[in-house]
Amino acid sequence: MITKFLSDSEQDIEISAEILRRGGLVAFPTETVYGLGGNALSPSASQAIYAAKGRPSDNPLIVHIADTAAVYELASEVPEVAKTLMEAFWPGPLTIILPKADIVPKETTGGLDTVAIRFPSHPAAMELIKKSGVYIAAPSANTSGRPSPTTAFHVKEDMDGRIDAIIDGGAVGIGIESTIVDLTSSVPTILRPGYITKKNLEDIVGEVRIDPAIIRPDPNLRPKAPGMKYTHYAPKGELTVVELTDVACPTDATSTENAAIWTDKGAAAVADTINALYNKKKEAGDKVLILSPKEHLSFYNEEDTVTVGSIEDGITVAARLYAALRECDERGAKYIYSESFKDCEIGGAIMNRLLKAAGQRIIHV
Ligand code: TXA
Ligand code: MG
Repeated sequence: MITKFLSDSEQDIEISAEILRRGGLVAFPTETVYGLGGNALSPSASQAIYAAKGRPSDNPLIVHIADTAAVYELASEVPEVAKTLMEAFWPGPLTIILPKADIVPKETTGGLDTVAIRFPSHPAAMELIKKSGVYIAAPSANTSGRPSPTTAFHVKEDMDGRIDAIIDGGAVGIGIESTIVDLTSSVPTILRPGYITKKNLEDIVGEVRIDPAIIRPDPNLRPKAPGMKYTHYAPKGELTVVELTDVACPTDATSTENAAIWTDKGAAAVADTINALYNKKKEAGDKVLILSPKEHLSFYNEEDTVTVGSIEDGITVAARLYAALRECDERGAKYIYSESFKDCEIGGAIMNRLLKAAGQRIIHV
């Protein structure tokens, strides 16, 4: 298959919309990561998505919409809490899980009776959904297991020749996937943390739970979002996270206070551990890279360091994380050591992705 490389111009969106109407696959930018889209109501389009990604077909897809009315077509029941969350956070990086309506094929929901629905805020995504007239099933546009794509170039690396078209809308803003909240349980439950935090949700709807099988999971728990159980987001090199044991997330601490606590409690101790591991591998002749926030770069050998934003601003870490993991692949890293980030606010989503990428390999200092 020859993949068309398109822009986000009106004309190119029209070409992409036509591809979707005919049952083809188009990768497109969203505010979180690039998605790999196909007609969500077409079993064969959903099957083609799984094939292009090399993804297990029990891992359900998110259905993307461009107006809230679509929820009433896709879900068999829309509770008040869903309406409140839609009103507060849509369009935006929040996915809600509801009981599915009959029109949604099981191929799209990985065999489940529920459906994941998201109304993205990226203008190209909205235009594509509106122009095509179809609801778009879209997982992240990476090969299954690789870091999610945050640029059209990342999509090309994984999907060239496997899908019909890629819309280049530049680098995405957020950089990690949407927050997923399950509204089929009595208390709304976060199945995947993201840019919209537990606190953001609680400010609007009161008590919210977080699936205990995510972020720092007990290996015996089974996450409710099937996709969260796979080793995911992973670079080719072996990634290990090095973390200070005694740094809890202080409730209501500002990010600046967090940075101060982190530094006081032993940035140097973490760096010493990472440098000892680094030196050992380097002496053995292996390519090693270190992921570090910009404040700690001076601790490490500059030429083998990849920067992932600032400890004072988790949003910059989220935006850089997947690109940094892909950079490690490009530079041929056999081993990667990363500093950790605190679980506060968006930090929880960052640690969820980082620890999954590391296959939960973590060293406590
Ligand atoms: O930000 C995002 O959500 C991106 C962009 C492209 O919109 N999409 C994305 O899709 O991350 P994907 O397929 O990579 O991740 C979807 C996650 C998986 O972990 C899947 O198991 C979960 O959502 N999921 C989908 N439908 C579900 C359902 N009915 N019940 C529980 N989990 C579900
Ligand atoms: Mg994904």
